Amino acid sequence: MLILQTVNELKEWVRDTKKAGKTIGLVPTMGFLHEGHLSLVKKAKAENDKVVMSIFVNPAQFGPNEDFDRYPRDLKRDQELADVAGTDVIFAPSVEEMYPRESQIQLSAGAQADVLCGAKRPGHFDGVLKVVTKLFHLVEADLAYFGQKDAQQLAIIESLVADYNFPMAIRRGETVREDDGLAKSSRNVYLSDAERNEAPHLRKALEMGKELVLQGQDPIEPMTVYLTENTSGIIDYIELLDYPTLTTTIQQDAILALAVKFEKARLIDNIIFNQK
Ligand code: PAJ
Repeated sequence: MLILQTVNELKEWVRDTKKAGKTIGLVPTMGFLHEGHLSLVKKAKAENDKVVMSIFVNPAQFGPNEDFDRYPRDLKRDQELADVAGTDVIFAPSVEEMYPRESQIQLSAGAQADVLCGAKRPGHFDGVLKVVTKLFHLVEADLAYFGQKDAQQLAIIESLVADYNFPMAIRRGETVREDDGLAKSSRNVYLSDAERNEAPHLRKALEMGKELVLQGQDPIEPMTVYLTENTSGIIDYIELLDYPTLTTTIQQDAILALAVKFEKARLIDNIIFNQK
């Protein structure tokens, strides 16, 4: 496995790989890898000749009071895990390498970013669009892989690729969970023992909510009561929307999504299901 830290090294590798007629799958990450990230690598490995994983904690997508500085980082451990999962190249640039000057052009997400996390984290998805656009152009991937754990991010990136004719396709990966149902997340390490024990109730609330929706009932109030009674977290949002449009008119697939703030970690999870 190669570890590249500069844009020029990466471009050179991409040029040679393309010249040899090989296809490239890209798995963008912020590192501190877990099974969720690695499941995307395995999917990419099965569908492409070469797999590039980017590891970059992207300052552009963190708000001023968010956890950019204390976001967990462990490149050495990440290298071992990525290698075992079948990654061919890790691209791990510095902030200066990725953003050598202030951008003169800004990308901004549309109405899909006005709900859920986008409403709570202004500018977050613009920062995601900024980094993935650069990565898509640098890696020239045929396929890029994103997890449904971050369903709003996935939907917005699908819009980017569709609206601006990026010459590639997006692949969706299922949410990987702990045995007790908690969605794997790099931020789970920040949960206290007590919070960790409560955290599986997020998934339980989503499952309960889904059943209520299928019975034609409004799930928000019962889910709010359930989470308030069973966790010490503060509910940031619980929303039911169409997926992937993220509008309130549900056509076929619905997303029930929530965010709960614990002492040192804000957790998100969702469930996507056919409402018909
Ligand atoms: P990060 O949180 O590191 O996640 C990288 C990718 O792994 C994303 O596509 C995310 O949806 C996926 N992922 C995370 N947890 C998962 C889980 N439990 N099961 C399945 N997939 C999971 O998302 C980002 O980084 C950044 O915003 C990024 C896209 C890299 C842009 O900076």
